Amino acid sequence: MRMVDLIEKKRDGLELSTEEITFVVNGYTDGSIPDYQVSALTMAIYFKGMTEKERADLTMAMVESGDQIDLSKIEGIKVDKHSTGGVGDTTTLVLGPLVAAVGVPIAKMSGRGLGHTGGTIDKLEAVKGFHVEIENEEFIELVNKNKIAVIGQSGNLTPADKKLYALRDVTATVDSIPLIASSIMSKKIAAGADAIVLDVKTGAGAFMKTLDDSRELAKAMVRIGNNVGRRTMAVISDMSQPLGYAIGNALEVKEAIDTLKGEGPEDLTELCLTLGSHMVYLAEKASSLEEARHKLDTAIKDGTALEKLKVFLSSQGGDASIVDNPSKMPQAKYTFELEAKEDGYIAEIVADEVGTAAMILGAGRATKESTIDLAVGLVLRKKIGDQVKQGESLVTIYSNFENVDEVKEKLYENIKISSQKIDAPILIHGEITE
Ligand code: URA
Ligand code: CA
Repeated sequence: MRMVDLIEKKRDGLELSTEEITFVVNGYTDGSIPDYQVSALTMAIYFKGMTEKERADLTMAMVESGDQIDLSKIEGIKVDKHSTGGVGDTTTLVLGPLVAAVGVPIAKMSGRGLGHTGGTIDKLEAVKGFHVEIENEEFIELVNKNKIAVIGQSGNLTPADKKLYALRDVTATVDSIPLIASSIMSKKIAAGADAIVLDVKTGAGAFMKTLDDSRELAKAMVRIGNNVGRRTMAVISDMSQPLGYAIGNALEVKEAIDTLKGEGPEDLTELCLTLGSHMVYLAEKASSLEEARHKLDTAIKDGTALEKLKVFLSSQGGDASIVDNPSKMPQAKYTFELEAKEDGYIAEIVADEVGTAAMILGAGRATKESTIDLAVGLVLRKKIGDQVKQGESLVTIYSNFENVDEVKEKLYENIKISSQKIDAPILIHGEITE
């Protein structure tokens, strides 16, 4: 097989066979096919697309390029959730204990974050003593016993995707739906889940800015999952503004605790109940979505979800007393209120810019090497559609710096007030099951 022939084939819009795709992925991973030929191929894919079969083949070739996590010793149907990323997205912290409380096994491999706020592991480090450096065996035991555990990224998962993603990044070929869909799905499949619930974000703060693109990406991922034997569905949810109120690590843990108590922000609660219902249903712990949702509601009301969070934290060395006393988590030295300069209605809260403001305070990493300040961040006091009076607080800023002028300026630029009444955005834009 010659790489040049495969580039030509794709350039002319023809379908590559399973063997041809495997040849490319293996050759690129082992270095026998150079960057320039793979760049030409990804650009041809960008313009000509990929068939459903090619997408599934590419995904599985990337899965097989490295280690795969074996969760077969965990009882029950393992369901994973993946979000395409947003600002202040606290869903994982809520969903883990919530769905575990109704018996769904959650075996989560998680990473650190880059950008706005930390990843799930960073956030959990706001809980004193909590650690994810556990052996595989202990991880599996914990999931069997408690239905939930989190382990740090280990092993050599999807090396082909890592190399390909880095190449796409510098060759203007990231924005290709078949390539994005295969990239995301390869990582989920290598992580071992039997079923996958995808939260595809849409709007200004999301990777996909338009509803059409988000829907197309969701469909592409759902088809890949189902074609390779993992039951997969997607929810398309709003990211035109940050989710919930809190953006920042300890602040988001606190928000997750509130939500598990039934006292969380409306949008975060609703999204968690929607995603959670699908997880419970796919795990066959309920025979309908209504029954699943009822079970989750009950777990919040009767305190079992909150109890599950305590068990989860203490099983991995964490101080579970923070659940009843969140002020034991790292606290910022200073707080400031961002006061509204005029009366009106909140028209826009540009999610990614507000995320950047949190990063300036130290809540996120600008580069892989930066350290995170777990205490700092933002708590929105208003969301799109809310009425506001001049002088009222729009945002509380939690900072360890005495001067937050730059942060305030950024927030004023990106929280827009209108004199006209504005409707709150729709939270769930659709669900895709096949
Ligand atoms: N996220 C991924 O993991 N892969 C892509 O290709 C794009 C976003
Ligand atoms: Ca939040």
